Amino acid sequence: MANVKFFSGEKIPLEMHKVRMVQKLTLPPVERRLAAIGEAGNNTFLLQNKDIFLDMLTDSGVNAMSDKQTASMLVCDDSYAGSATFTRLKDKLTEIFGMDYFLPAHQGRACEHILAQALVKPGDVVPMNFHFTTTKAHITRCGGTVEELYTEEGLELTSTNPFKGNFDLGKLRALINRVGAAHIPFLRLEAGTNLIGGQPFSLENARAACRIAHEAGIFTVLDASLLQDNLYFMKVREAQCRDMDLREITRALADEMDIIYFSARKLGFARGGGICIREKALCDKMIDLVPMFEGFLTYGGMSVREMEAIAVGLDETMDEDVISQGPLFIEFMCNELIRAGVPVVTPPGGLGCHLDAMKFLSHVPQTEYPAGALAAAVFIAGGVRGMERGTISEQREPDGSERLAEVELLRLAMPRRVFTMSQVKYAVDRIVWLYGHRDMVGGLKFTEEPATLRFFFGRLAPTSDWQEKLAAQFRADFGDSL
Ligand code: F0G
Repeated sequence: MANVKFFSGEKIPLEMHKVRMVQKLTLPPVERRLAAIGEAGNNTFLLQNKDIFLDMLTDSGVNAMSDKQTASMLVCDDSYAGSATFTRLKDKLTEIFGMDYFLPAHQGRACEHILAQALVKPGDVVPMNFHFTTTKAHITRCGGTVEELYTEEGLELTSTNPFKGNFDLGKLRALINRVGAAHIPFLRLEAGTNLIGGQPFSLENARAACRIAHEAGIFTVLDASLLQDNLYFMKVREAQCRDMDLREITRALADEMDIIYFSARKLGFARGGGICIREKALCDKMIDLVPMFEGFLTYGGMSVREMEAIAVGLDETMDEDVISQGPLFIEFMCNELIRAGVPVVTPPGGLGCHLDAMKFLSHVPQTEYPAGALAAAVFIAGGVRGMERGTISEQREPDGSERLAEVELLRLAMPRRVFTMSQVKYAVDRIVWLYGHRDMVGGLKFTEEPATLRFFFGRLAPTSDWQEKLAAQFRADFGDSL
């Protein structure tokens, strides 16, 4: 990785790229931001882009593409069946992961649909370091349940543990003994563990977990959607990876897996997804589902343009100067917030900067959704859109009772190479202002609550007039500033 020190001693993430295409942004005044969050039912998924200044909802499908990716989209081979573009993508995946079979799908959750449909039976248990929303929804839809085998430190939001995404290997052994390998269709490892703050697992831990699974005859599945961040952290935080290049680390991890699936909206910096499979027999269990739900086997719902861009993006993922951009900007943002006393998840992970809403809004009870309330408040404060990752993102228990999340986070995702440092500093400035007025922020309650994935479409209302008061405070403190 390029090693550039500043004479001033300042720790600043230095971009190893230049920007050659831009999109104009607008920042609506606080009165409009207040109205917009109300129109969106206090759900940031329902906001319109025209009302948003910094969209930190997700890094999914919104990363900046490189010149080479854009160029590759012009030379694709457009055909329903047998396209050379598909072969290029498949060959690139085989080169990087060393697996011979590849089933394309239109995005990550489509892979999860296929995996769950083909492999999960009613009564099955799928162990994983931590669940992801769509993963769990697909497994439970097929009658299975999810067991999260994170270590105790995994949920300690303030920590110096470099690998909070690790498996508790003792819990894994105990689970296999308790339910029996016959009821465990696969072990799922999630790289860059999304819902606990983009936290990685170590190569050593992944190897050990896979060994335990294989000894019991259980398949291993890697969700590689956030592999780029996990690779970066393995490289800089794990002694045994220091002298390996990214391709070697990737292959060392991939060698432990029977299946690797990914959202190419994250891995590969484009839009799409797919499932890489080591053995033909396992591929045969899933293959029929691709033409049925996704598209023919040589596109699986993806456009050939995107497939070309993914193939180039995968190569670029093997470049430290490319994949370091996310973690370095996130670290910068977290450190600026920490300096102002704002509670964030540490160590800084991948994906984004995560605010600890339970600490930020310690006066808001969990049943009033502190992470959702904080998302609304940050939007009012600065036109910055984050994503609630707390109780609203959970599914209710089968008996209809609320399942309180282990952690209440507001995720401020860092789309790669999209925002500049001054924009990050702006977001920090507004969050620090809000932190000074945190006592003004109240809770939320559902007014419309869908039965599944309620965080996508659910609508909520504030429990009092706290939002009007917060907007008035902003006006008083910032004068005529946007
Ligand atoms: N697995 C992980 C770890 C993810 O983060 C995601 C998506 C998926 C699977 C599903 O992939 O969106 O292509 O269907 N995460 C996005 C996010 C939605 O914003 O974190 P998808």
